[in-house]
Amino acid sequence: MDPTTFILFGATGDLAKRKIYPALYNLFIDQKLPQSFALIGLGRREMNDESFKASVEQSIHNFSRREANNAALIRDFLRAFRYSVLDISRKEDYKKLLHLIEQREEELHVSPNRLFYLSVGPEFFETIAANIQESGLGSENGWKRLVIEKPFGRDLQSARDLNRKLAQAFAEHEIFRIDHYLGKPMVQKLEILQQNPVLNALWTNHYIANVQITANETVGVEDRAGYYDHVGAVRDMFQNHMLQLLMMLTSHLPKNSNFEMVRFKKKKVMEALEPLQKEEVSASVIRGQYKAGIVQGKPVIGYTSEPGIAPTSMNDTFIAARLQIDDYFWRGVPFYIRTGKRMNEKSTRIVIEFKERLDASQGTTDGKAPNLLVFEISPNEGITLQLNTRDPQHKGGYKSIQLDFHESQEDIPEAYENLIYDALHGNPTFFAHRDEVELSWKWVQPILGAFEENLVPLHLYEAGYYGSSETDALLAKDGYHWWFDAKPEQQIEPLLSMP
Ligand code: BG6
Repeated sequence: MDPTTFILFGATGDLAKRKIYPALYNLFIDQKLPQSFALIGLGRREMNDESFKASVEQSIHNFSRREANNAALIRDFLRAFRYSVLDISRKEDYKKLLHLIEQREEELHVSPNRLFYLSVGPEFFETIAANIQESGLGSENGWKRLVIEKPFGRDLQSARDLNRKLAQAFAEHEIFRIDHYLGKPMVQKLEILQQNPVLNALWTNHYIANVQITANETVGVEDRAGYYDHVGAVRDMFQNHMLQLLMMLTSHLPKNSNFEMVRFKKKKVMEALEPLQKEEVSASVIRGQYKAGIVQGKPVIGYTSEPGIAPTSMNDTFIAARLQIDDYFWRGVPFYIRTGKRMNEKSTRIVIEFKERLDASQGTTDGKAPNLLVFEISPNEGITLQLNTRDPQHKGGYKSIQLDFHESQEDIPEAYENLIYDALHGNPTFFAHRDEVELSWKWVQPILGAFEENLVPLHLYEAGYYGSSETDALLAKDGYHWWFDAKPEQQIEPLLSMP
């Protein structure tokens, strides 16, 4: 791996502490950082190198997936860290930064390969990129990369504007737009799994009845009212994470696809997604907001009673949608996607329901057991294939068996480890390309409009459920139901023991 200077904007922020430092530490333990690696943390706050290192160490203790109990190892790791104060809008500060970087590169005798990581609010993205460009921080004698966090725009126009501005400072191959769902190990496995000949043969509308993609969260708005109340579930989760899951699942990658092919195929999916008209949104999209209820045994308040949220807020904390991909493989297969806060459980999963379910006359236990393929993405990782077979107990009858694979949780790298590793390598496979971002905003745009104009009713749902009853009706209209929704009062059972 090339020697790298990692320049982190927002070094004292929450994301850096919770995700970036622990990810770097685990990469360090696994010897997955470049041999010659320097990190320069940037923030508004005055701090010297030693207190910066101490705060990084603290974050590793708090958030690393592996226990940080080897003092010598931690010391080694922290040797790479330096801190500098930077006011994002002051041009002189970038000159000072350039000087500091060059000094470090000289000390380490390395070429100027610079990775700029923007872990700051989106209002600063353009200013930073422009200042990097103007100050000459992107040296011509090495490579430069820009890693950028979400949110990437708040609608199609702002995403286009941002892309255009970034393109003035960085080429597309130098921009790594983070969607942390693409870093989740199971999502990364989807790329290879769908190239598997068995799955590949089944990956069409001949065999698949419907697909359900769910991201349930138990948390509410937390302390992010200022941000969340302006974005809602549609911008916070749906436009990015959920549509990325859809693309990763349906892109029909040929064997040995490289990153260009992955991006090309994902773009094709977005282009084939049947567009919605603003006036029709309410027929296929459910907008929800949580009210007070009980989540995993604990009473919680409703969204509009949360601190910082106006009692009249119409913001969506839940969204479910029915989508169709109009291409050769997927025509006629409904895709149901839902995500929401204050649900009954934390779970991200994809369920593929196959056609030709057995019916009651054939003696199945519940009268309608289809074959299912389930990808558990988080918090647990696993794949389950539910197959119908003869039931030896009931002659002539059938029962479902599950073939199960579950990854041991301890060995699973965090999404940020995978993504930072790839960015250090310059591998863009699991980052969102400009076209994907714009196409997904374009698809979502009529929904934003319909929500704004209140063309879609806002359904209140009790916290601790899976959204309102209208969400069930969305599938019931097509003769389906959501799989694996546990009853709220039930203990959440592992997938295996579910019907
Ligand atoms: C973030 C959203 O992108 O993803 C949060 O801003 C959400 O609102 C989070 O809670 C969910 O991520 P995960 O990995 O916990 O499913």
